[in-house]
Amino acid sequence: MERRNSSSRPPKRPKRAKKTDIATTALGQEPAKRARKKDAPQKGEAGNRELNVHVKTAKRREYGSTLWLKRQLNDPYVRKAKAEGWRSRAAFKLKELDEKFGLLKSGGRIVDLGCAPGGWCQVAAKAVGRSGKVVGIDYLNMPAVTGADVLEMDFLDEAAPEKLKAMLGGEADVVLSDMAAPTTGHRSTDHLRIIALAEAALDFAEDVLAPGGAFVCKVFAGGAEGDLLTRLKEQFDVVKHAKPKASRSDSAEKYVVATGFRGRG
Ligand SMILES: C[S@@+](CC[C@H](N)C(=O)[O-])C[C@H]1O[C@@H](n2cnc3c(N)ncnc32)[C@H](O)[C@@H]1O
Repeated sequence: MERRNSSSRPPKRPKRAKKTDIATTALGQEPAKRARKKDAPQKGEAGNRELNVHVKTAKRREYGSTLWLKRQLNDPYVRKAKAEGWRSRAAFKLKELDEKFGLLKSGGRIVDLGCAPGGWCQVAAKAVGRSGKVVGIDYLNMPAVTGADVLEMDFLDEAAPEKLKAMLGGEADVVLSDMAAPTTGHRSTDHLRIIALAEAALDFAEDVLAPGGAFVCKVFAGGAEGDLLTRLKEQFDVVKHAKPKASRSDSAEKYVVATGFRGRG
């Protein structure tokens, strides 16, 4: 009887990939073995490959939901945040701003307005350590972040600022605001809502900041303008705009960073 030798056997079929939303990833380069020190995914790292993941469940989804999911699946910062245990990709924006402006110091007292799902709280709590204090507010519920006290409330509720001040128990070194209201699609309404949030955040900052303190606030399009910019320039030594690399380039979002609060009196 003729025996087949192993080389004449038909090749084994490759195992089928698990079914997930990720159907394909176009890999341009080898995945990096270890994350580098720099926060932004570096060229050639796993996170920064040219991704072209498409959504397998697209037929069952609304078009907008598919677009959102596709963007998430293809976003290197989303992947990096997940891999490193940050609650949100926004964590990298604060890390970049901190690197550039030296905002978060050991023992610092930080207020985080619009803090859910908690990326900035995580970054701030880690930076200030046990001797510092981080207080956050959001009207969305979020799981606790070690080292941060969070108030679940609308910041525009007139009782909110006093509650935050009581939680803080003293002056703040930094007031951060990443607050963004859901957009309506009506440009001037959206613009007014953003300005209202930024002005409310600045009112609060002027009330709680220690002399020398800093204020960081999300703004859009042209950045801080009009009354807001005038007030910032009066109250702070230095006022700058910054667009962190982690902020999507197709987003009009940027941050105004004001340092050297001149004090209340
Ligand atoms: C971009 S997210 C913040 C992400 C956060 N910095 C992080 O690192 O995870 C904006 C947040 O602002 C919150 N927000 C918007 N308006 C608010 C308000 N009036 N009061 C409290 N939170 C508000 C939203 O609920 C949302 O969670």
